[in-house]
Amino acid sequence: LDNGLALTPAMGWLHWERFMCNTDCNAEPDNCISENLYMQMADAMAKDGWKEAGYEYVCIDDCWPSASRDAQGRLQADPKRFPGGMKKLADYVHSRGLKLGIYADVGTKTCAGYPGSFGYYDLDAKTFADWGVDLLKFDGCNMPKWTLLAEGYINMSKALNNTGRSIFYSCEWPLYEWQYTQPNYTAIRQYCNHWRNYADVYDAWTSVTGILDWTAEHQDLIVPAAGPGGWNDPDMLVLGNFGLSLDQQMTQMALWAIMAAPLLMSNDLRNIDPKSKALLQNRDVIAINQDPLGKQGRRTAKVNNFEVWERPLSGGKLAVAIINRQEIGGPRFFPITLAMLPSWKFCNPECNVTQILPSYQEMGIQKLLSTTNVQVNPTGTALLVVTPSTLDPRLHEK
Ligand code: GLA
Repeated sequence: LDNGLALTPAMGWLHWERFMCNTDCNAEPDNCISENLYMQMADAMAKDGWKEAGYEYVCIDDCWPSASRDAQGRLQADPKRFPGGMKKLADYVHSRGLKLGIYADVGTKTCAGYPGSFGYYDLDAKTFADWGVDLLKFDGCNMPKWTLLAEGYINMSKALNNTGRSIFYSCEWPLYEWQYTQPNYTAIRQYCNHWRNYADVYDAWTSVTGILDWTAEHQDLIVPAAGPGGWNDPDMLVLGNFGLSLDQQMTQMALWAIMAAPLLMSNDLRNIDPKSKALLQNRDVIAINQDPLGKQGRRTAKVNNFEVWERPLSGGKLAVAIINRQEIGGPRFFPITLAMLPSWKFCNPECNVTQILPSYQEMGIQKLLSTTNVQVNPTGTALLVVTPSTLDPRLHEK
């Protein structure tokens, strides 16, 4: 979508995976969907280095509204859980130098059963703009007929544009169409800044691998659709929760960078493991994710239970992720050679290799015909940046 936004994938925080539809503020005042939750996350984002790392959007997901619209037909926040109202919450988030995201649904009800926007696209877009909202996640549940999905998503895109406020538009249009037909990614890219293609992420390794497998299987269709202005959205980062080992968290982080995915964390920033935090704030990984060339990477090889994914970067560089998909045994060596990695031919006559994950390490100059071994833990990933000698000034000095 050519609205000046999403020149690189969005970065921020989104409540769903971690906090879901917890509306019981009596029992769990700190973990229920209420204005406090977003104010506290905004505080954490502003003071704990997240903002400096690039995380910008504090996003509300489902379950924020009151069960009914107001007398003028407008959506309204649940008055008990959002006593200050949405405008005040947006002001608060803006005062921290951050942006506010909200959630609505193209159908008659949201996925969790709250009022949907069907028949109210213009009014809801205007309401969000009046509140000072900066991003809309637009879900696709409860559409009276699936054939109306495209029209609904397009109409909301136009409605947002007509408000005159710059509002990032995050769609789930292809995800809901896939059940019936192959989505038209040209149209989707024209109207959305992000689009979900596949199932909701869970706090589990099988969920992460399911998303990676789906993405690789459909890469010829979806990778060309991504670029500045619009990106495939493989769903939230779940690092810092309960289900992924540190190696698996590295895999999610590295591969979301290769996939040019939105980096929307769903975790508890008020209380997060320092290792997860360091990984989420890793400048080198974020630089790959946000690379200005804006080309999504893809899986390029599958061999011996390793997967190789590559993403072309600006300046003629290449990011390479090597996932060890073998879930038995210990660390294994992946030999980088022309035979294992066809694109290694770009290391001709030599190249400079930097390992970003699992730890930063200058691996120095490698030659086309030499073999570099990279060690990868089970379910972990080695993430490298490769610079061909023709482009690395350091290699001309010697
Ligand atoms: C759908 C979406 C999720 C989340 C829930 C909320 O499942 O895909 O990301 O927004 O609805 O109900």
